[in-house]
Amino acid sequence: MPYAKIVGSGSYLPPKVVSNDDLAADLATRGVETSDQWIRERTGIQQRHLAERGVKTSELATLAAKAALEDAGAQASEIDLIVLATSTPDFVFPSTACLVQANIQATNAAAFDVQAVCSGFVYALTTAEVYIKAGRAKNVLVIGAETFSSILDWNDRSTCVLFGDGAGAVVLSASEEPGIIGAKLHADGTKMPILSAAGNVSYGEVVGDPFLRMDGQAVFKFAVNALTQSAHQVCDEAGVSLDDIDYMIPHQANLRILSFLGRKLGVSDDKIVVTLDKHANTSAASVPLALDQARKDGRLVPGKLALLQGVGGGFTWGSVLVRM
Ligand SMILES: CC(C)(COP(=O)(O)OP(=O)(O)OC[C@H]1O[C@@H](n2cnc3c(N)ncnc32)[C@H](O)[C@@H]1OP(=O)(O)O)[C@@H](O)C(=O)NCCC(=O)NCCS
Repeated sequence: MPYAKIVGSGSYLPPKVVSNDDLAADLATRGVETSDQWIRERTGIQQRHLAERGVKTSELATLAAKAALEDAGAQASEIDLIVLATSTPDFVFPSTACLVQANIQATNAAAFDVQAVCSGFVYALTTAEVYIKAGRAKNVLVIGAETFSSILDWNDRSTCVLFGDGAGAVVLSASEEPGIIGAKLHADGTKMPILSAAGNVSYGEVVGDPFLRMDGQAVFKFAVNALTQSAHQVCDEAGVSLDDIDYMIPHQANLRILSFLGRKLGVSDDKIVVTLDKHANTSAASVPLALDQARKDGRLVPGKLALLQGVGGGFTWGSVLVRM
């Protein structure tokens, strides 16, 4: 049975960079009070990239996908499946994956979206791996892309300072060499009250509350415990020790969550890839953005073992162990 191996990665961030000071000044015009100091101390975030109003998730995803194809040295026609994780799709339908399929002219690819919020990329990668291992696909484009700025209540300082927009992608291909060596996904729908965007369009009207709402402290505690347990479980099942992991790429939500996680697992800070200072929380895009950065800056060279982790709305969470 072939392995599924990451053979290329790419990312795209919208050009507009908004520092904490810029954001605080902008929010002040609405009477919303925040500061660079509060955001840095509570989250570690220094800035975020924000898409201009009207820019769609598929546009960011298409550029990340093209970068990943180029990095892999692959043609779009060689892709037989596109799995795209997002909670901010362009439309109710068609799926954002289909829009990307058209944009890159992946004429031989099936395409669908995965909705698992901030765990989306880990869910999408695991799904893609299963297709490859089953012999149903050889080259899969796995994308995490979001325009989370479009679902934020910019009058709610407890959420709007935390998120950014962006997209990351990998090409996952069938290989005789080890690639993904373990994966485990989880869900608990009873946790909906602590994180949701519980609105939809029905009979032509927005029904419910379409903005992201969160109980920050409850999410914080849940995330630390879920990621800790998930790391132990995926490592135990794969027969590897936490000491064998070269780099952890957890979902980038809050620097304090990452520090607690590292301490609980006994993983030193230098092994934890951090991009949230520059990107903020980009939901399904955060893990592939961080993975791409660590590949491009020379940390994730071939042979290194990486632990990818997602946690987010649903609740959903999970881990993937990848030999690069
Ligand atoms: C959201 C989060 C940063 C808040 O940090 P916290 O230390 O829990 O802060 P609290 O919610 O207790 O708020 C403390 C105070 O800061 C205030 N505050 C909240 N947001 C603020 C902001 N942007 N600027 C200034 N003050 C703010 C609150 O109103 C509160 O004031 P009060 O004490 O006068 O009532 C933190 O809970 C968190 O990161 N949670 C996880 C979020 C997450 O990861 N979500 C995505 C999961 S995928």
